[in-house]
Amino acid sequence: MTKPSASLLVLFGATGDLAQRMLLPSLYDLQRDGMLPADLRVLGTSRSALDDAGFREHAAAAIRRQRPGGTDEAPLRALLERLSYCAADTQQPEAMAALAAQAQALRRGDMVSHLSTAPRMYGPICEALGQQGLGGPGSRVMLEKPLGHDLASSIAINDAVARVFDEERVFRVDHYLGKEGVQNLLALRFGNAMFEPLWNARHIQQVQITVAETMGVEGRGDYYDHSGATRDMLQNHLLQLLCLTAMEPPSQFDPSAVRNEKIKVLRSLRAIEGADVASHSVAGQYTAGAIDGQAVPGYGQDLGRASHTETFVALRAHIDNWRWSGVPFYLRTGKRMARRSTEIYLQFRAVPHAIFGASQGAAQPNALVIRLQPEERISLELMSKTPGLDRDGLKLSPVALNLDLNDAFENVRRRSAYERLYLDALEGNGTLFVRRDETETAWQWVDGILGAWRQQGLAPRPYPAGTWGPSQAVSLAERYGHSWRE
Ligand code: BG6
Repeated sequence: MTKPSASLLVLFGATGDLAQRMLLPSLYDLQRDGMLPADLRVLGTSRSALDDAGFREHAAAAIRRQRPGGTDEAPLRALLERLSYCAADTQQPEAMAALAAQAQALRRGDMVSHLSTAPRMYGPICEALGQQGLGGPGSRVMLEKPLGHDLASSIAINDAVARVFDEERVFRVDHYLGKEGVQNLLALRFGNAMFEPLWNARHIQQVQITVAETMGVEGRGDYYDHSGATRDMLQNHLLQLLCLTAMEPPSQFDPSAVRNEKIKVLRSLRAIEGADVASHSVAGQYTAGAIDGQAVPGYGQDLGRASHTETFVALRAHIDNWRWSGVPFYLRTGKRMARRSTEIYLQFRAVPHAIFGASQGAAQPNALVIRLQPEERISLELMSKTPGLDRDGLKLSPVALNLDLNDAFENVRRRSAYERLYLDALEGNGTLFVRRDETETAWQWVDGILGAWRQQGLAPRPYPAGTWGPSQAVSLAERYGHSWRE
């Protein structure tokens, strides 16, 4: 059930990178479209010594930078009027007391604290919120990833947060869940009758989930080098996409029903551990190469030192349940790859009997491609008769039924993930947020892979920037007669 919208958003890390790139611009977009609750106030906090006016200037500059096409002055001003600021070192009780006093004065009902800080601060901030009387009912907390570095640290953070906030008041952000295309995956699966009967091991031969990026580490080297593609992308975004692709139909679109189905998928993931890791996974690290014709340096050069961190990971995973028995799920993600592409590819099984004989030769299995980024497109690959008189037998050619969602909804603005996630968190709807058991089960699985790499002494394989990853990733699929879609 939707709760009353919160009247206060306290943004920790208000001058940080995420706030500038995503959070403040999303609030502006919501304001422009009249979507923010009328009485919402936003209280920014960080260690930077700013006053309200300084924070408003800072926010306006960030929003203008992110909306180079121009901003509308009236909504920008209206958003700025909602903003206040309180400089605080969250480890200082007096500073937290001052912040709490300001929050109490601004809040007219529920409040949401959005923690966009280093995750090691989540526990102490929640504890301080509790001590200051801001942790009780009507107070929710939004946590950014990464939620820990492994299962143990994730449990420690979750435990510390849980001492103040019960689980239904904890909103763990995975911004992929806020993306339009990701929700469209649910609409496709559960808003149409024709896919579900085919959505299983009897009809699907293999599934591929790719999140390829062309960018490198872009000044985030210190965080990234400590994390790597497996913790940064696989543990969260890819596993969430896997859950939505593979889960059973939930009985309704609500927080418990959806998350109960996702956790079953995570719990059914077969461990990739011990010697299996060599045949079921490949880690890579980019070397110098070219992206869009521009030379780019390798990861070590970007970072300024040599490193063993993987910037690419590919896996052959299995979901050991009735629906997916025997179907490989190939997952891959990497930085500095050939092009930006997030997509889910489902290849169907071949027809059971080829009636057109040898001339059919090139018949390819049907495939459904759900492209989420950069453009949203659904494409169904079919076989068609090649026009002609067919004296040597009927010939088949692959054709595609393409649905370009940007064309289909050309007058509808595409919302950024944080617009939706903010509204949901303000309203207290956790469907598109990650539950504690999901994040911990995902960590457990990922820890198994990382541990096995260490144990087997497997180092990342080099791949030139601008390619689809190390050649070993190609063999990971080809060994089983499958090819990555490129
Ligand atoms: C973030 C990762 O969670 O997702 C980044 O930390 C990555 O490394 C980003 O670049 C990708 O998000 P998007 O929305 O650009 O696909």
